[in-house]
Amino acid sequence: MKKKYNKGQNLYKKTLKIIPGGVQLLSKRPEIFLPDQWPSYYKSAKGCEILTYDNIKLYDFTNCSVGMCPLGYANPVVNKSVINVIKKANTTTLNTYLEYDCAKLILNAHPWAEMAKFTKSGGEAMSVAVRIARAFKKKDKVLFCGYHGWYDWYISANLKNTNKLNEHLLPGIASGGIPKSLGGMTIPFEFNNEKDFKLKFKRSLKKLSCVVLEPARTRHCDLNFVKTIRKYCSKYNIPLIFDEITLGWHYTLGGYHKTLNVNPDIAVFSKGTTNGFALGVVIGKKKIMNAALESFISSAYWTENIGYAAAIATINYMKKNNVSKKLISKGRKIKNIWTSLGKENSLPILVRGIDSLPTFSFDNQKSDEMITYFTQEMLKEGFLAHGQCYLMISHTDEHIKRYKYACSKVFKKISKIFHQNNVNFKKHINGRVKFAKFKNPV
Ligand SMILES: Cc1ncc(COP(=O)(O)O)c(C=O)c1O
Repeated sequence: MKKKYNKGQNLYKKTLKIIPGGVQLLSKRPEIFLPDQWPSYYKSAKGCEILTYDNIKLYDFTNCSVGMCPLGYANPVVNKSVINVIKKANTTTLNTYLEYDCAKLILNAHPWAEMAKFTKSGGEAMSVAVRIARAFKKKDKVLFCGYHGWYDWYISANLKNTNKLNEHLLPGIASGGIPKSLGGMTIPFEFNNEKDFKLKFKRSLKKLSCVVLEPARTRHCDLNFVKTIRKYCSKYNIPLIFDEITLGWHYTLGGYHKTLNVNPDIAVFSKGTTNGFALGVVIGKKKIMNAALESFISSAYWTENIGYAAAIATINYMKKNNVSKKLISKGRKIKNIWTSLGKENSLPILVRGIDSLPTFSFDNQKSDEMITYFTQEMLKEGFLAHGQCYLMISHTDEHIKRYKYACSKVFKKISKIFHQNNVNFKKHINGRVKFAKFKNPV
């Protein structure tokens, strides 16, 4: 069968020959969506519309660049402000005062925090946060819950037992190249499980430097769970770090934790803060943040202008336009579409996630096959789509209406196969079933 997206697939095959794994981010691998068929590369994009190398326009209803662009692709206000600073020189021997302006803006949104530091990526910012906490406590162990990036401190959790990270967003994360001596330094605890947290906390307390938590993702946290963590950290003077890299700005203006009324000692932001430009942000209490001076934390590209200009423009835009409320309302519409089509078609659908970052799957062993088939059929309807839909304000009512129409056609097809005696989605997929590993795919 002739594939529609030959060009993207051919380019990807070429890339695999000179870039290990083909792409820089696991979550943008074609295999994570639709192996052998995914258009893979974009030529240009605007709002939620993407032009592929086959010159086909698609509506993006996936996790939309992993939630990096809540204002939509190529937002003119943010782009204008970035172009302005580039024209004036993106970097010089002297520093940019936008660092101060950006720090002030983010700290103003989080009155509990007194100081800020910046990096370029989220994982890097998490690494800085943990380094600061370790320098502050002069201790090594880290208790964590959630996904926190690719750095040694985090991936070392998988050294002694390769399953340790399985429940924390990405199963099967490989730990090649991580020094064995780091084994046992980073210990996971279960989300929303107070008992597990208390047990691990007590066991590690003597050597504990900090507790790291992503306070929501596919589920909201139980308030009691977070309050208990806060209470224990305060009692024993252990820095509590909230990873808001994906959550931040998507649920309220700033950290999701503002809606809990529970403050961390350090919070980390990145995606969403700049609408797609590189910046990692670490904010925290002065007495802890100043421990940064007891370690060497320094990098050349943390000084360039683009990230700061983009963050200032993005946050001001969000403030003025009540963006998080709009994202939540759009997300609810998407959740309703999935839920009602699931019911109409008697499909065992599981709809989850905070409202602005919703996800769905099927409560069935064949869920991955069913979602792969969904992606394949939605592509034929002109949509990039899978089991996540991270909202952007550029998803207009009209786009959502078209998405609903396409979903209703595709859910019917899924239902037809699902309700046959011998459920076999593989037979209907023109490639392999999606998978999430950095193994070589061909
Ligand atoms: C909660 C969380 N922490 C850390 C990271 C790592 O950020 P980055 O990919 O920018 O290194 C991510 C990225 O997906 C994330 O969602």
